[in-house]
Amino acid sequence: MIYNKKMIFCKYSLKKLNTFNINVNANKVIKVKNLIELCELWKKYKQKNRPCLILGEGSNILFLKNFYGLVIVNRIKGIYISESKKYWHLHINSGENWHKLVKFTIKNKIYGLENLALIPGCVGSAPIQNIGAYGSSIQDFCEYVDIINPINKNIKRINKKNCNFKYRDSIFKHNYKNYIIISIGLFLSKKWVPNLNYNDLKKLKHNIHITPKKIFNYICHIRKKKIPYHKIYGNAGSFFKNPIVSPNLGKKLLKIFSNMPFSLENNFFKLSAGWLINKCKFKGYIRKGVMVHSKQCLILLNRFNTSSGRDILNLAIKIYNSVGKKFGIWLEPEVKIIDNYGEIDPCIFFKKNTKF
Ligand code: FAD
Ligand code: EPU
Repeated sequence: MIYNKKMIFCKYSLKKLNTFNINVNANKVIKVKNLIELCELWKKYKQKNRPCLILGEGSNILFLKNFYGLVIVNRIKGIYISESKKYWHLHINSGENWHKLVKFTIKNKIYGLENLALIPGCVGSAPIQNIGAYGSSIQDFCEYVDIINPINKNIKRINKKNCNFKYRDSIFKHNYKNYIIISIGLFLSKKWVPNLNYNDLKKLKHNIHITPKKIFNYICHIRKKKIPYHKIYGNAGSFFKNPIVSPNLGKKLLKIFSNMPFSLENNFFKLSAGWLINKCKFKGYIRKGVMVHSKQCLILLNRFNTSSGRDILNLAIKIYNSVGKKFGIWLEPEVKIIDNYGEIDPCIFFKKNTKF
C-alpha cells in the first residue's frame, strides 16, 4: 500500500492509549461506539489513502513513531446471553473490556473464565493472539468470531474450528487483514469443573470448598504480585512468546540445565522465555529507562514512562541476540510493532545473528 504522505500533522497524543505509555501522536484519534460510525471513518480515511489503525486498549503494541493516520479506539459494547441445555452462550461486542466480562460472568453465576482474569485489553483483540493464562485460553470457550470488511460491510462468521487457534496464534494474525473483529461468541458449560493444572494453582487442589470466585481472586492476587500495573510502569505483559523447540533440543538443554522449567506439547518442549532471559543475566537490567522486570524477565518496563518505543525495541533486540547466542533459540516477539503507517514485520528487527 502506498500512502499519501502529504501534510501529516500529528497532534493527538497516544500516550494514554498504549500500556507501554509511549509518548507518540497520531494525526487523528476517534473513539467509536457503533459499527456504522467505525465503517464510515475507516472508509473515509482509506479513500484518502491515509492509514487507519484500530485499537482496543493498546496492551499488546509498541509504537515506534508518530502514526500518520487515524486511530480508531473501539468502544462498541454489548453483552447478550442465551442458553441451551448444557451451555451458556454469550455474544459479546468487541469493544467490551475483557476483565470486566470475566467479572460479569462470575457475578451472573456463569463460570469458566476465572483463570483468564485480569488480562488487559478488549474482547475483540482476545482471539487474535488466543489470549491465555494459568492453564486456560480463549480457544477453550470460543464458539465463533464475527468480522466485518469496513469498506464493503461484508460480515463473516468464523467458527471456532476455522479460527486455527494455537499458542498465542490464530487465523486473525495471518488472514482477514482487511477485516475488523466486531463480536465474539463464547460457550460456557453449566457444569463447572475447576482448572487447577497450572503449577501456581496446584495448591488450591487441596481446597475442597474451591469456587470460581476463589480461583478468580487468587489469580488476581498472583498476577498483581508478579506484573506491575502499567499505569505506574508502562509494559505490555510478555514481550516475547515462550519458544516451542524440538524434542532433540529440549532434551539436550535438559541434560545441561536439569532445573530448566518446561512443559511438553506433542513431544515438543515449550520453554520459559523468562527463564532463558534470566539465564542471560538480564534480571533487573536497565538501559535508557527500560528495565527487565526482576520478578518476571519476560516483561520489559518503561520504568520512568519517558523511554521511547525505539529504546524498548533496542533492549528487546539485545535480549533476542543474547538468548539466541547462548541457547540457539531465537525468540519471537508477542507484541506488535507499529510505525508511521501501521504494523511492521518484526523480522525487520529480529534477525538471527544481527550485530547490535
Ligand atoms: P491492542 O493492543 O489494542 O491491539 C492489538 C492488535 O490487535 C493491534 O494490531 C490492533 O490493531 C488489533 N486489533 C485490536 N482490536 C481489533 C479488532 N476489533 N479487530 C481487528 N484487530 C484489532 N496476553 C495474554 O494472552 N495473556 C496474559 O496473561 C497477558 N497478560 C498481560 C498483562 C499485561 C500487564 C499486559 C499489558 C498485557 C498482557 N497480555 C496478555 C497481552 C494483552 O493483554 C492481549 O494481547 C490483549 O488481547 C490485547 O488487547 P488490546 O485490546 O489491548 O489490543
Ligand atoms: N520463569 C523464570 N524466570 C522468569 C520468568 C519465569 O524462571 O523471569 C520460570 C519459572 O519457573 C516460572 C515459569 O517460568 O515458574 C513460568 O512463569 P509464569 O507462570 O510467570 O509464566 P510465563 O510462561 O513466563 C506465561 C504467559 C503470560 C501468562 C502466564 C501465566 C507467555 C509469553 N506468557 O508467562 O502471559 O500470564 O504464562 O499463565 O506465554 C502475556 O502474554 O503478555 C502474558 C503475561
